[in-house]
Amino acid sequence: MSLALDQFEPKETLAAEAFADRVSEILNYGAITVMISIGHKTGLFDTLARLPAATSAEIAYAAGLDERYVREWLAAMVTGGIVSYEPSSETYRLPASHAASITRSGELGNLAVYAQTIALLGQVEERVIDCFATGEGTTYSDYPCFHDFMAEDSGQTVVAQIDGLLDTLAPDLKVRLAGGIDVLDAGCGRGLALIELARRYPESRFVGYDLCADAIEFAKTEARSNGLENVHFEKRDLSGYDEKARYDFIASFDAVHDQKDPAALVRSLHGALRPGGVYLMQDIAGSARLENNLDFPMASFLYAVSCCHCMPVSLGQGGEGLGTMWGWETAKRTLEAAGFASIEKHVFDHDPLNVWFVSRKA
Ligand SMILES: C[S@@+](CC[C@H](N)C(=O)[O-])C[C@H]1O[C@@H](n2cnc3c(N)ncnc32)[C@H](O)[C@@H]1O
Repeated sequence: MSLALDQFEPKETLAAEAFADRVSEILNYGAITVMISIGHKTGLFDTLARLPAATSAEIAYAAGLDERYVREWLAAMVTGGIVSYEPSSETYRLPASHAASITRSGELGNLAVYAQTIALLGQVEERVIDCFATGEGTTYSDYPCFHDFMAEDSGQTVVAQIDGLLDTLAPDLKVRLAGGIDVLDAGCGRGLALIELARRYPESRFVGYDLCADAIEFAKTEARSNGLENVHFEKRDLSGYDEKARYDFIASFDAVHDQKDPAALVRSLHGALRPGGVYLMQDIAGSARLENNLDFPMASFLYAVSCCHCMPVSLGQGGEGLGTMWGWETAKRTLEAAGFASIEKHVFDHDPLNVWFVSRKA
């Protein structure tokens, strides 16, 4: 269905002054986001969560950081409504209800992990501005620490949940994994999901491929330090991938939409499965249609990540540049076109940004 232009209304039209206020608010939030990233990376949120109300000097000492920087950061956190402040004692406190979603032990997950993305996009701004003029793409090496962030992200949404995910998505797979099957993670990044599976299922054999040498080196070191002999990591460009009937279970965690040719990759993964094999794809749950995403959680964040990372890295490989918001509809069509016999779609409360497809080969 296509919409005539006059049918499309902006999400919200504000009067000029109200809009200016809104822009100020956005600038404030953008600045706070970078400070949240710093709070996460320095461990300051975790330190605050452990302490009772404390002075900047006590917090800096506990975190092993410089007091002057910590005090300025705390001021941003107080004005940002994240940390509370008691002027009479000049003490700061992270309320438990805030620690729940902004620390490494928060029971609602750690949203501070995503703040790092905004800081990372800032680092590639000039490169991306060049691309706006030339239409060129980028390479993964343009993004310092990208795999640090990705591993933390999938550490929460995949690795920490893997047992429950399999229970819900494909309980039969747990039985097969326990018996011993061949498993591939396509675009494994630092390989932490595969390492967790290899640890849980010693009878099965696990292979992880990724384009990025640094991510694969990290994965190899991690597998060695866990004493795992049933997992193999290899730097490999999956463009043109063509192994046949070699695996019983293939997974890709957030690794299809930014490929050079997602449809070709999914076709080749179908070919790489043995009959009865299962392909588990986690990808972004947004819609392919902009107008359907107006209320999608963190939609602007995802389009920004797309514009500055997922779309240009695909273009940089000579690819289609579908972008982060290629849409669950596109993903489903791609799976259907690849020839899977059955396709199930799931979205979980713990991971509202992603959709999970369980596709089975006849
Ligand atoms: C968004 S990251 C996800 C990484 C990992 N699955 C995770 O969840 O942490 C996408 C991954 O796909 C990999 N990738 C992109 N294009 C690739 C290609 N042509 N061949 C192999 N891997 C590729 C990237 O290097 C990156 O590690």
